[in-house]
Amino acid sequence: MTQMATFCMTNMREEVMKLNKMTISNDTVNDLPCEVGIKGKQSYYLSNRGNAISSRHDIMATATLTSIRNKYDEHDNPYGIINIGISENKQCFDLLKERLIQKDMHHVEESHLQYADWRGHRFLREAFAKFLTYHCKASSPLKTENIVVLNGGGSLFCALSAVLCDPGDGLLIATPYYGAIITDISLYNNVRLFPAHTSSKIVKGTNRPFQLTVQTLEKGLRNAKLEGIKISALILMNPHNPLADIYSESEMTEFLEFAKRNELHVIVNEVYMLSVFDECETFHSVLSFDRIPDPQRTHVMWGLSKDFSASGLRVASVYSENQDVINALATLGFLHGLPGTIQYQVTQLLTDEDWINTVFLPTNRARLKEGHEYVTHILRELDIPFLNRHAALYLWADFRKFLKTCTFEEEIALWNRFIDNKVMIMCGKAFNCCEPGWFRIIFSETASKLELAMMRLKMVIKEVEQEIQAENGLCSCRQNVTGNLNSEESNGAD
Ligand SMILES: Cc1ncc(COP(=O)(O)O)c(C=O)c1O
Repeated sequence: MTQMATFCMTNMREEVMKLNKMTISNDTVNDLPCEVGIKGKQSYYLSNRGNAISSRHDIMATATLTSIRNKYDEHDNPYGIINIGISENKQCFDLLKERLIQKDMHHVEESHLQYADWRGHRFLREAFAKFLTYHCKASSPLKTENIVVLNGGGSLFCALSAVLCDPGDGLLIATPYYGAIITDISLYNNVRLFPAHTSSKIVKGTNRPFQLTVQTLEKGLRNAKLEGIKISALILMNPHNPLADIYSESEMTEFLEFAKRNELHVIVNEVYMLSVFDECETFHSVLSFDRIPDPQRTHVMWGLSKDFSASGLRVASVYSENQDVINALATLGFLHGLPGTIQYQVTQLLTDEDWINTVFLPTNRARLKEGHEYVTHILRELDIPFLNRHAALYLWADFRKFLKTCTFEEEIALWNRFIDNKVMIMCGKAFNCCEPGWFRIIFSETASKLELAMMRLKMVIKEVEQEIQAENGLCSCRQNVTGNLNSEESNGAD
């Protein structure tokens, strides 16, 4: 990756020439709704709900499809899109593959091919209990009976919202947030997210951009009440997506106390907990707390999609002290469960402590750190501010000075420009960010692709800069931005 840092202008010129020569496939995402919406013709063959599901789309789903349909491949599609917008860890395929083709993975028992406990086979839940007890530094051993394993984090959000909320209820969540949750919770259940908006401005009582506070949550709850929406639960993501913030133990405790005061369930999403890649950061799982304010209403998620580079395996667990919640989820496990053979393989993986602790985790962290260093190096070169965190697979960057006007239309226009130049990063609108101009960039990509992706991004930025200079004057959006650009946080300072 050190080669990455020596960003070469010759390569860049070549890349421009190649991109100019390529046959134009129109990847631009046109007519994009700002949020999930219904679009297109109604089918005679589908129910109203079927039509709603069929025509449903959100920015992330559209982006994923666009980049999958024209996916970059060094040999077969060199001018395809490099996707550094969707949160996947693509750096550790070699390690996973090597482990998953070992002999011990190829084992089938009768029970793997038969109906089983819908919470997941006991052997799988035991493996999760032991794994999470160790890696979450749980204050007491986690109980197998309190774990349910389903097919992915999205599926788990769907199942949890089904058992914790009634149709029409709301889940309180701070913005910006990982946008696909909207689909997860509303597709079958008709539950909605209710935003508690945070701001990039560092105001009284905060010390970092987009900082979540109890006051923000209280305001969100009040607004929901004013709109007549019943809030059943609060969603907390730690480490956060897309900010990559890690909440301290005391912050988390305050949020949990807020939820207890208001009799809200809390879905604590810790799916990035093992992707903390710098010793200067400490992550505290809620499961490590000596005292959880309302254990019967606190449900903790973790899965293999992010921390284990395995978003295609579709495995995620929830730990809850509440046996009613576990029983209800177990019923849904019939529809959301994992194949028996996969349960076996995942068990082999999670119980291989030696491989996890001496091979996988240290290598993964080192690679995440390298990817982060490379991308932040380019952003600094381009004078693009970003939140300098050391967790997760992405960073949150401030492109506001490249918007002609401070609008989401301009944000989408810039996003489309990146896509036209075959690099996909994810626009802030996909996270319901209330300020236009913020983008999430994934750095957990292999070195060569990351280098090319950043080269393409750099080309777009250089073009936009030239246009701005030609315009010979600053628009109000850019002027507004300057105040924040000087802030320590958004300059990417540690
Ligand atoms: C915070 C968070 N939760 C859940 C998910 C979904 O995970 P899965 O791929 O296991 O469905 C994601 C994926 O991006 C995520 O970022």
